[in-house]
Amino acid sequence: MRDFELIELGPGTGRLLTDLLPTVQKLRASPASLTLFEASSELRQVQSKALATLSNAPKPRWASTLSEALDNPNEQPVIIIAHEFFDALPVHVLHKVPSKTGTESQWREQLVDIVEDPNPGEPQFRFVLSRAATPAVALAQSVCTIQPQTDSKVLEVCADGMSTARRLAELIHRRGGAALIIDYGSDTLRGNTVRALSKHAITDVLASPGESDITADVNFGHLRHAVSGVPSMRLWSSISQREFLLRLGAAERFRMIARSVVATDESDEEIDNRLLRLQQDYDRIVGVGEQNMGTVYKVAVIANEKEGVPFGFANRSG
Ligand SMILES: C[S@@+](CC[C@H](N)C(=O)[O-])C[C@H]1O[C@@H](n2cnc3c(N)ncnc32)[C@H](O)[C@@H]1O
Repeated sequence: MRDFELIELGPGTGRLLTDLLPTVQKLRASPASLTLFEASSELRQVQSKALATLSNAPKPRWASTLSEALDNPNEQPVIIIAHEFFDALPVHVLHKVPSKTGTESQWREQLVDIVEDPNPGEPQFRFVLSRAATPAVALAQSVCTIQPQTDSKVLEVCADGMSTARRLAELIHRRGGAALIIDYGSDTLRGNTVRALSKHAITDVLASPGESDITADVNFGHLRHAVSGVPSMRLWSSISQREFLLRLGAAERFRMIARSVVATDESDEEIDNRLLRLQQDYDRIVGVGEQNMGTVYKVAVIANEKEGVPFGFANRSG
């Protein structure tokens, strides 16, 4: 296996890496170098501690900008992982408003304004609409989200996500490799999906800026459009996490682990408990419905189409 660089965008607590690295080590496919793109200094410390629990993990290089993350002079092929990263990038929300003449509609961007307060204290915020079309409107038009027949009254476009996807495609085009994107969203999004989460509950987006996680569904169709600007690069999207993992053999793997649990000489009660936990974990990642991740999360891959169809995407047109 050729040496490669593993880049994770937004590693969070580092949990994905501490699960993934020992597994790829067993397959003798460890990355020669590891780059973590992380904006938060607190999370970098958490990631550092998590990685320190592994033996033989490559020493990570942290990057605080995308350019830093992608500018490793070693020119090895790259495997890029972005799990719940694109949903954290800022989106532009656009609203359809009637024109002054009333004959046709126009698009305006939702902006944040400070509420004039006669008793200044904590600033309060409110949403307003731009007076004229902004560059985000032009971007949405360029990706065909806004067409004369668009029936939706609210749309989103994520300029950061699109430019990130394009830069990943350019990097993979130059150095070889692939990017795996796992996130919630779909190929064709409509409406305003921006929401704020605080302590696992949905909260007012404007209430405490900086203290809640603001997220929006990922428009994989827009990312695909961005990638298509790079010759021979393509984004395969968006298959459900359930379908992707089943195609990669998740059910067979589940049965293998279950058999190995039953074959231990532990007590019946302990075996039952471990099988129950295994089933619960399996259901959480491949199960359907809002309470599970199987159909809510989608998987997309950016790769060079000359390399063939990525695993899990055969027989898909997207
Ligand atoms: C929801 S967490 C993802 C967690 C992790 N990937 C996982 O699978 O558990 C989002 C991550 O992206 C990082 N992040 C969000 N926006 C970012 C940005 N603009 N630049 C760099 N990192 C960012 C956050 O700090 C966090 O590590």
